[in-house]
Amino acid sequence: MQDDLDRVLFDEGTILRRLDELAMQISADYRDRELTVIAILNGSLIFMADLLRRIPLPLRLDCLSVASYHGGLQTSGEVIFRQIAQPDIAGRDILLLDDILDSGTTINSIREKLQTVSPKSIRVCVLLRKIKKRARPIEADYVGFDIADEFVVGYGLDYGEGYRNLPCIGVLRKELMA
Ligand code: IMP
Ligand code: MG
Repeated sequence: MQDDLDRVLFDEGTILRRLDELAMQISADYRDRELTVIAILNGSLIFMADLLRRIPLPLRLDCLSVASYHGGLQTSGEVIFRQIAQPDIAGRDILLLDDILDSGTTINSIREKLQTVSPKSIRVCVLLRKIKKRARPIEADYVGFDIADEFVVGYGLDYGEGYRNLPCIGVLRKELMA
């Protein structure tokens, strides 16, 4: 799998060291609050598992399954919610976890949808944020790494559902992308 990468951006050790810092920051910010984490599947699965085990606070975990990419390279602009029941979040401090902030469509639609259920607060935490111009500006409260506007895989991020289990994050070789 690693041979399919043009180059590695972040190896496992680098990712985990950054998660130590993120977790410390989140733990300090939510010290006296009841944290509810909502992880956006499937991309944030590995990030979530490593991050949450570094946060020594009582917390609740829910997952939302959405699709906006259909396994390809370009966002379709439409976010499809795959489950019927929404997590019970009224009056709660919500931390949304996602793998990557690209166009922002996914996070924006989820944030809007959750807002209708009256949470106490919603913050956003992403492992990666692409540096690019966005149609709608979007703020992430916690960001692991800023990266150039390139297609990356590994550590939960997929191309056509592949490469999620690569322990590092890297840029996929151009000739492998349709
Ligand atoms: P957005 O709605 O455009 O911000 O896209 C967010 C979703 O698109 C992420 O949760 C990923 O599933 C997917 N995505 C965006 N950029 C990449 C990438 O470089 N590699 C893999 N998946 C990506
Ligand atoms: Mg994806």
